[in-house]
Amino acid sequence: MAFDPAFLDELRARTPITSVIGRRTKLVRSGRNWKACCPFHGEKTPSFYVYDDHFHCFGCGVHGDVISFVMQSEGRSFPEAVEELATAAGLEMPRMDRHQRDMQREARTLGDVLEAVQQVWRLRLHRNEGREGLAYLRGRGLTDETIAGFGLGWSGDGRGGLVQELAAQDITPQLLAQAGLMRVDEHGQPKGELFFNRVTFPIHDRRGRLVSFGGRILGDGQPKYLNGPETAIFAKRRVLFGLDRARTAVRGPRGGGDASPRPELLVVEGYMDVIALHQAGFGGAVAPLGTALTAEQMEALWQVAPAPVLCFDGDAAGQRAAVKAAETALPLLNVERTLRFCVLPEGEDPDSLLRQRGTAAMAALIEGARPLSEVLFGLLSEGVRDPGPEQRAALRQRLEAAAALIPERALASEYRSTLLDRFFATFHRRPPAGRKGKGKGASPPPRASAGVLPVAPDLDAQAVAQERMRILTAILLRHPEVLEEVQDAYCRLDLPVELSALRAVMLDMLAEVDGDPDAPTLLATLQARIEEAELSDMRERVLSSHPLPLSAQERDDLMTVDVRQEWWHFYGLLNLERFAADVRLDTERMGAGAFDERQWENLRVRLLALESLRRGGNIPDTQ
Ligand code: UTP
Ligand code: MN
Repeated sequence: MAFDPAFLDELRARTPITSVIGRRTKLVRSGRNWKACCPFHGEKTPSFYVYDDHFHCFGCGVHGDVISFVMQSEGRSFPEAVEELATAAGLEMPRMDRHQRDMQREARTLGDVLEAVQQVWRLRLHRNEGREGLAYLRGRGLTDETIAGFGLGWSGDGRGGLVQELAAQDITPQLLAQAGLMRVDEHGQPKGELFFNRVTFPIHDRRGRLVSFGGRILGDGQPKYLNGPETAIFAKRRVLFGLDRARTAVRGPRGGGDASPRPELLVVEGYMDVIALHQAGFGGAVAPLGTALTAEQMEALWQVAPAPVLCFDGDAAGQRAAVKAAETALPLLNVERTLRFCVLPEGEDPDSLLRQRGTAAMAALIEGARPLSEVLFGLLSEGVRDPGPEQRAALRQRLEAAAALIPERALASEYRSTLLDRFFATFHRRPPAGRKGKGKGASPPPRASAGVLPVAPDLDAQAVAQERMRILTAILLRHPEVLEEVQDAYCRLDLPVELSALRAVMLDMLAEVDGDPDAPTLLATLQARIEEAELSDMRERVLSSHPLPLSAQERDDLMTVDVRQEWWHFYGLLNLERFAADVRLDTERMGAGAFDERQWENLRVRLLALESLRRGGNIPDTQ
């Protein structure tokens, strides 16, 4: 595709690559250049570099200039990317050269062929031959206005009628084949119409250009729906049925007197769902064409609305589809674009729901849509009940892996803590059976801890807390063998960014080592991981951090206890109430006989730490 090189140079000059990339992923200075977490692959430490006029990712190898960035990140063709950037930069598009004109002409010709076919099919629906088709559509509750508005048609019986009818307009079978309306034999010769005895659904791209058709058989029969094949102008993975209308309904200008709220952008499964929803006033409904939502389709959705609502069936297949959609979306999320989910009553689709229970039921369902961050835990932990250590570890790995798919660091870390919080709330800290919510066993109200911390006067509370987290991290860097025992507690800490990067590497390491390795092996593995993640500098800083000012008593205590106790000691100092409450709760659970030997040992160490904190005067004895 030949654009004038001078025009492209001008375009690149007027479109700073950092501002285009910066809209996608957070850039931080790196010398004269910029770096970021690569928007094309999930990573936790930045290996994506942006220079004056190009980008390069040392992690996954993508590189290119500003135009190819738009192509790759938004799934655009070269001319589309150029056009988008030119529009944004206020540059007028140059006139096309000859080759391009030919391409455009061909595209227009295919579009013209489809339009001619559409004309024929639309009219056939209202002729004698289309009688059954029309009755079928009306029987499914569609009004004549809806039928006309969506341009629904009747394909005829496929016995050559279409070819004959279009011959008069110079449309050859070859053209029909190119437009995806005729099958071809092994020599590429057209042989028979693709659609016959079906009602037809014209499919438009988001700008409203006709690009293909779908067709439904009347009643039962296989395949129920047929979609046109990929052609020069139709890529199934990029098109959403109904998006042209939804875009206008959700974003377009509104009539003066129209005070109704703008409809939600809503993704459903089928053609008939979209049409029934539009007819019922849900103008933002769209559907993929019989496949799972692709990344390109999500990009197209986000161009219309920041948080489209995805509607899934209440059955197992719906659940799988929702998981799939979440997996596709996570690497593309940022603070401005997310998804919401709603679940249909089992056995219903939006079309049947509208008919069985009416518009209000559908509206309530959409109203109750929940954000991805909320449903993700449920999706990933589906079927997990009372997990043992192995299932718990596996689930946690799934949760962490899901959060790690998000390229924006801050967002990934928010997802990570939200998921882990849910994990602990759901599977860990359940009070033993028989324990009442109120009364004797309940936690005391939180007490102010001011004045009980051994704080040097010149350090404020936050600095002290950070220093403690640094110490906790430093202990684990020296003694990764302690990690397994303390990981749940460690995960719950809201660490500063750089410490949390180290924690992520540590937990990854722990998740991946096999068996029960000895301390030196763990240490060596951890150090290798830290090198690999280029966090060695940070590791050194953390290890050399100044110890917190301790009371003499405390220092004496620390000399005599083991590393694990030391860790719990500092952990306890961070939040005494919670630590004491956790230990007390576990003591009760142990009393109920719910503990294995390992948990018992862990509790013993924490009790010792708690005791040393008491003796250090940190907790009044009444606790
Ligand atoms: P469904 O089988 O869920 O049907 O297909 P539906 O949308 O409820 O259709 P009706 O109500 O029986 O008419 C959902 C979507 O999957 C694709 C179509 O895009 C359909 O709208 N599909 C389904 C196919 O492409 N081929 C098929 O054979 C079936
Ligand atoms: Mn249906």
